[in-house]
Amino acid sequence: MTGKYAVIGNPIEHSKSPLIHAAFAEQTGQDMTYDRILGTDFERDVRAFLAAGGRGLNVTVPFKEDAWRLADERSARAETAGAVNTLIRLDDDRLRGDNTDGIGLVRDLTQNHGVRLHGKRILLLGAGGASRGVVRPLLEQQPAQLVIANRTAPKALDLAEELRGLGPITGCGLDQLNGLAFDLIINGTSAGLGGEMPDLSADCLVPGGVCYDMMYGDRPTAFVCWGQAQGASQSLDGLGMLVEQAAESFYLWRGVRPETALVIRLLRP
Ligand code: ATR
Repeated sequence: MTGKYAVIGNPIEHSKSPLIHAAFAEQTGQDMTYDRILGTDFERDVRAFLAAGGRGLNVTVPFKEDAWRLADERSARAETAGAVNTLIRLDDDRLRGDNTDGIGLVRDLTQNHGVRLHGKRILLLGAGGASRGVVRPLLEQQPAQLVIANRTAPKALDLAEELRGLGPITGCGLDQLNGLAFDLIINGTSAGLGGEMPDLSADCLVPGGVCYDMMYGDRPTAFVCWGQAQGASQSLDGLGMLVEQAAESFYLWRGVRPETALVIRLLRP
Protein backbone atom coordinates (compact mmCIF):
# COMPACT_ATOMS: atom_id res chain seq x y z
CA MET A 1 0.00 0.00 0.00
CA THR A 2 1.24 3.47 -0.86
CA GLY A 3 2.59 5.23 2.25
CA LYS A 4 1.21 8.72 2.78
CA TYR A 5 3.52 11.40 4.24
CA ALA A 6 3.66 15.20 4.34
CA VAL A 7 5.34 18.26 5.82
CA ILE A 8 3.22 20.70 7.80
CA GLY A 9 4.15 24.32 8.55
CA ASN A 10 3.07 27.90 7.97
CA PRO A 11 4.32 29.23 5.60
CA ILE A 12 5.01 26.01 3.69
CA GLU A 13 5.25 26.77 -0.02
CA HIS A 14 9.03 27.36 0.20
CA SER A 15 9.71 23.93 1.78
CA LYS A 16 12.22 21.76 -0.05
CA SER A 17 11.12 18.64 1.86
CA PRO A 18 8.73 17.32 -0.86
CA LEU A 19 11.56 17.49 -3.40
CA ILE A 20 13.99 15.76 -1.04
CA HIS A 21 11.62 12.95 -0.07
CA ALA A 22 10.53 12.40 -3.67
CA ALA A 23 14.20 11.95 -4.57
CA PHE A 24 14.73 9.54 -1.64
CA ALA A 25 11.61 7.53 -2.57
CA GLU A 26 12.66 7.22 -6.20
CA GLN A 27 16.19 6.25 -5.29
CA THR A 28 15.14 3.55 -2.79
CA GLY A 29 12.04 2.35 -4.68
CA GLN A 30 9.71 3.15 -1.78
CA ASP A 31 6.02 3.36 -2.67
CA MET A 32 5.00 6.63 -1.00
CA THR A 33 3.58 10.11 -1.51
CA TYR A 34 4.82 13.25 0.27
CA ASP A 35 2.76 16.45 0.25
CA ARG A 36 2.78 19.94 1.74
CA ILE A 37 0.18 20.98 4.32
CA LEU A 38 -0.36 24.63 5.14
CA GLY A 39 -1.16 24.36 8.84
CA THR A 40 -3.73 26.62 10.45
CA ASP A 41 -5.10 24.60 13.38
CA PHE A 42 -2.21 22.19 14.02
CA GLU A 43 -3.96 19.42 15.94
CA ARG A 44 -7.03 19.45 13.68
CA ASP A 45 -4.84 19.39 10.57
CA VAL A 46 -2.78 16.46 11.88
CA ARG A 47 -5.87 14.47 12.89
CA ALA A 48 -7.40 15.06 9.43
CA PHE A 49 -4.19 13.83 7.77
CA LEU A 50 -4.15 10.69 9.92
CA ALA A 51 -7.85 10.05 9.28
CA ALA A 52 -7.04 10.15 5.56
CA GLY A 53 -4.46 7.38 6.08
CA GLY A 54 -1.32 9.44 6.79
CA ARG A 55 1.65 7.44 8.14
CA GLY A 56 4.03 10.23 9.15
CA LEU A 57 4.69 13.95 9.12
CA ASN A 58 7.57 16.34 9.11
CA VAL A 59 6.82 19.40 11.20
CA THR A 60 8.34 22.81 10.64
CA VAL A 61 7.96 26.41 11.85
CA PRO A 62 5.90 27.33 13.85
CA PHE A 63 4.55 23.94 14.97
CA LYS A 64 7.51 21.99 16.37
CA GLU A 65 6.53 22.64 20.00
CA ASP A 66 2.87 21.81 19.24
CA ALA A 67 4.04 18.52 17.74
CA TRP A 68 6.05 17.82 20.90
CA ARG A 69 2.88 18.26 22.96
CA LEU A 70 0.74 16.21 20.58
CA ALA A 71 3.06 13.18 20.52
CA ASP A 72 1.94 10.23 22.68
CA GLU A 73 5.59 9.23 23.20
CA ARG A 74 8.93 10.89 22.40
CA SER A 75 12.54 9.92 21.73
CA ALA A 76 15.20 11.13 24.18
CA ARG A 77 16.56 13.60 21.63
CA ALA A 78 13.07 15.06 21.07
CA GLU A 79 12.58 15.25 24.81
CA THR A 80 15.77 17.32 25.20
CA ALA A 81 15.02 19.45 22.15
CA GLY A 82 11.57 20.36 23.48
CA ALA A 83 10.50 20.17 19.84
CA VAL A 84 9.44 17.49 17.37
CA ASN A 85 10.15 17.65 13.63
CA THR A 86 9.09 14.07 12.83
CA LEU A 87 5.84 12.35 13.75
CA ILE A 88 5.59 8.60 13.21
CA ARG A 89 2.27 6.76 13.30
CA LEU A 90 2.84 3.55 15.22
CA ASP A 91 1.05 0.26 14.49
CA ASP A 92 -1.34 0.89 17.38
CA ASP A 93 -2.09 4.35 15.90
CA ARG A 94 -0.31 6.25 18.66
CA LEU A 95 2.01 9.06 17.54
CA ARG A 96 5.73 8.94 18.26
CA GLY A 97 7.61 12.25 18.18
CA ASP A 98 11.27 12.48 17.23
CA ASN A 99 13.70 15.26 16.40
CA THR A 100 16.19 14.59 13.62
CA ASP A 101 17.69 18.10 13.37
CA GLY A 102 20.65 17.45 15.67
CA ILE A 103 21.62 14.13 14.13
CA GLY A 104 21.27 15.82 10.73
CA LEU A 105 23.81 18.45 11.78
CA VAL A 106 26.19 15.84 13.21
CA ARG A 107 26.00 13.62 10.11
CA ASP A 108 26.60 16.54 7.76
CA LEU A 109 29.64 17.61 9.75
CA THR A 110 31.15 14.20 10.40
CA GLN A 111 30.20 12.14 7.35
CA ASN A 112 29.86 14.71 4.56
CA HIS A 113 32.62 17.07 5.61
CA GLY A 114 34.96 14.87 7.63
CA VAL A 115 34.83 17.07 10.74
CA ARG A 116 35.64 15.08 13.86
CA LEU A 117 33.81 16.34 16.97
CA HIS A 118 35.33 14.05 19.59
CA GLY A 119 37.61 16.04 21.92
CA LYS A 120 36.91 19.33 20.13
CA ARG A 121 35.99 22.71 21.61
CA ILE A 122 32.63 23.71 20.14
CA LEU A 123 30.95 27.11 20.33
CA LEU A 124 27.20 27.19 19.70
CA LEU A 125 25.79 30.65 19.01
CA GLY A 126 22.22 31.31 20.16
CA ALA A 127 20.03 29.87 22.90
CA GLY A 128 16.69 29.52 21.08
CA GLY A 129 14.94 26.47 19.69
CA ALA A 130 17.47 25.85 16.91
CA SER A 131 20.35 25.57 19.39
CA ARG A 132 18.44 23.54 21.97
CA GLY A 133 17.51 21.08 19.23
CA VAL A 134 21.09 20.06 18.51
CA VAL A 135 22.70 19.95 21.96
CA ARG A 136 22.12 16.27 22.78
CA PRO A 137 23.45 14.82 19.50
CA LEU A 138 26.47 17.18 19.67
CA LEU A 139 27.31 16.07 23.22
CA GLU A 140 26.94 12.41 22.22
CA GLN A 141 30.02 12.98 20.03
CA GLN A 142 31.96 13.70 23.24
CA PRO A 143 33.48 17.10 22.49
CA ALA A 144 35.93 18.48 25.06
CA GLN A 145 33.53 21.33 25.70
CA LEU A 146 30.34 22.87 24.34
CA VAL A 147 29.89 26.58 25.07
CA ILE A 148 26.52 28.15 24.33
CA ALA A 149 26.90 31.91 23.82
CA ASN A 150 23.91 34.18 23.42
CA ARG A 151 23.32 37.91 22.93
CA THR A 152 21.04 37.71 25.98
CA ALA A 153 23.41 35.94 28.39
CA PRO A 154 20.89 34.62 30.96
CA LYS A 155 19.16 32.51 28.29
CA ALA A 156 22.44 30.74 27.52
CA LEU A 157 23.16 30.24 31.22
CA ASP A 158 19.70 28.79 31.82
CA LEU A 159 19.90 26.43 28.84
CA ALA A 160 23.35 25.17 29.84
CA GLU A 161 22.22 24.71 33.45
CA GLU A 162 19.17 22.74 32.33
CA LEU A 163 21.19 20.40 30.09
CA ARG A 164 24.38 20.07 32.11
CA GLY A 165 23.66 16.44 33.00
CA LEU A 166 24.30 15.58 29.33
CA GLY A 167 27.97 16.57 29.18
CA PRO A 168 30.54 19.39 29.44
CA ILE A 169 28.26 22.32 28.60
CA THR A 170 28.47 25.93 29.79
CA GLY A 171 26.66 29.13 28.88
CA CYS A 172 27.70 32.77 28.59
CA GLY A 173 27.03 36.05 26.81
CA LEU A 174 28.40 36.69 23.32
CA ASP A 175 30.49 39.46 24.89
CA GLN A 176 32.05 37.09 27.44
CA LEU A 177 34.10 34.97 25.04
CA ASN A 178 37.26 37.04 25.33
CA GLY A 179 40.37 34.94 25.04
CA LEU A 180 38.48 31.71 24.28
CA ALA A 181 39.08 29.97 20.96
CA PHE A 182 37.11 27.13 19.38
CA ASP A 183 37.74 24.40 16.82
CA LEU A 184 34.17 24.62 15.55
CA ILE A 185 31.66 27.49 15.69
CA ILE A 186 28.02 26.66 14.91
CA ASN A 187 25.54 29.44 14.28
CA GLY A 188 22.12 28.64 15.72
CA THR A 189 20.90 32.25 15.89
CA SER A 190 18.30 33.76 13.62
CA ALA A 191 20.54 36.80 12.96
CA GLY A 192 21.06 35.66 9.37
CA LEU A 193 17.37 36.15 8.57
CA GLY A 194 18.11 39.89 8.60
CA GLY A 195 21.43 39.38 6.83
CA GLU A 196 23.23 39.98 10.14
CA MET A 197 26.07 38.24 11.88
CA PRO A 198 26.16 37.79 15.70
CA ASP A 199 28.62 40.22 17.23
CA LEU A 200 31.62 37.91 17.62
CA SER A 201 35.28 38.69 18.10
CA ALA A 202 37.57 37.48 15.31
CA ASP A 203 39.91 35.47 17.55
CA CYS A 204 37.16 33.04 18.64
CA LEU A 205 38.08 30.60 15.86
CA VAL A 206 41.36 28.70 16.04
CA PRO A 207 43.46 28.92 12.87
CA GLY A 208 42.04 26.38 10.43
CA GLY A 209 38.88 25.88 12.50
CA VAL A 210 35.46 25.13 11.02
CA CYS A 211 32.35 27.34 10.84
CA TYR A 212 28.86 25.95 10.33
CA ASP A 213 25.67 27.95 9.82
CA MET A 214 22.47 26.00 10.47
CA MET A 215 20.82 28.34 7.97
CA TYR A 216 21.31 28.29 4.22
CA GLY A 217 20.33 30.41 1.29
CA ASP A 218 20.88 30.87 -2.42
CA ARG A 219 23.94 32.92 -1.58
CA PRO A 220 26.50 32.41 1.22
CA THR A 221 25.03 33.55 4.56
CA ALA A 222 26.55 36.39 6.59
CA PHE A 223 28.00 33.82 9.00
CA VAL A 224 29.50 31.70 6.21
CA CYS A 225 31.14 34.86 4.84
CA TRP A 226 32.45 35.70 8.31
CA GLY A 227 33.99 32.22 8.59
CA GLN A 228 35.65 32.57 5.19
CA ALA A 229 37.05 35.96 6.21
CA GLN A 230 38.49 34.38 9.40
CA GLY A 231 40.33 31.77 7.34
CA ALA A 232 38.18 28.82 8.39
CA SER A 233 39.31 25.56 6.77
CA GLN A 234 35.62 25.00 5.95
CA SER A 235 32.76 27.49 6.28
CA LEU A 236 29.56 25.57 5.65
CA ASP A 237 25.87 26.35 5.42
CA GLY A 238 22.95 24.20 6.60
CA LEU A 239 21.83 22.69 3.29
CA GLY A 240 23.48 19.38 4.13
CA MET A 241 21.84 19.39 7.56
CA LEU A 242 18.46 19.89 5.87
CA VAL A 243 18.97 16.83 3.67
CA GLU A 244 20.44 14.71 6.49
CA GLN A 245 17.58 15.47 8.90
CA ALA A 246 15.19 14.46 6.11
CA ALA A 247 17.14 11.24 5.54
CA GLU A 248 16.81 10.33 9.22
CA SER A 249 13.05 10.98 9.12
CA PHE A 250 12.81 8.82 6.00
CA TYR A 251 14.70 6.05 7.81
CA LEU A 252 12.38 6.29 10.84
CA TRP A 253 9.32 5.92 8.62
CA ARG A 254 10.52 3.43 6.01
CA GLY A 255 13.42 1.58 7.66
CA VAL A 256 15.64 2.39 4.66
CA ARG A 257 18.55 4.83 4.68
CA PRO A 258 18.72 6.90 1.48
CA GLU A 259 21.91 8.17 -0.15
CA THR A 260 22.17 11.91 0.58
CA ALA A 261 25.14 13.20 -1.45
CA LEU A 262 23.28 13.20 -4.76
CA VAL A 263 20.30 15.01 -3.27
CA ILE A 264 22.49 17.67 -1.66
CA ARG A 265 24.07 18.23 -5.07
CA LEU A 266 20.64 18.43 -6.68
CA LEU A 267 19.58 21.21 -4.30
CA ARG A 268 22.80 23.24 -4.33
CA PRO A 269 22.11 26.41 -6.36
P1 ATR B 1 14.93 29.71 16.90
O1 ATR B 1 13.82 28.83 17.32
O2 ATR B 1 15.11 29.85 15.43
O3 ATR B 1 16.21 29.41 17.60
P2 ATR B 1 14.40 31.87 18.72
O4 ATR B 1 13.99 30.92 19.80
O5 ATR B 1 13.61 33.13 18.51
O6 ATR B 1 14.44 31.19 17.31
O7 ATR B 1 15.92 32.26 19.00
C1 ATR B 1 16.62 33.12 18.17
C2 ATR B 1 18.08 33.16 18.65
O8 ATR B 1 18.83 34.01 17.76
C3 ATR B 1 18.24 33.75 20.03
O9 ATR B 1 19.33 33.12 20.65
C4 ATR B 1 18.56 35.21 19.72
O10 ATR B 1 19.26 35.89 20.74
P3 ATR B 1 18.46 36.60 21.97
O11 ATR B 1 18.07 35.49 22.88
O12 ATR B 1 19.46 37.52 22.55
O13 ATR B 1 17.29 37.30 21.32
C5 ATR B 1 19.44 35.05 18.51
N1 ATR B 1 19.55 36.26 17.67
C6 ATR B 1 18.61 36.77 16.85
N2 ATR B 1 19.08 37.87 16.20
C7 ATR B 1 20.37 38.05 16.63
C8 ATR B 1 21.40 38.98 16.33
N3 ATR B 1 21.22 39.98 15.45
N4 ATR B 1 22.59 38.83 16.95
C9 ATR B 1 22.79 37.84 17.84
N5 ATR B 1 21.86 36.91 18.17
C10 ATR B 1 20.66 37.01 17.57
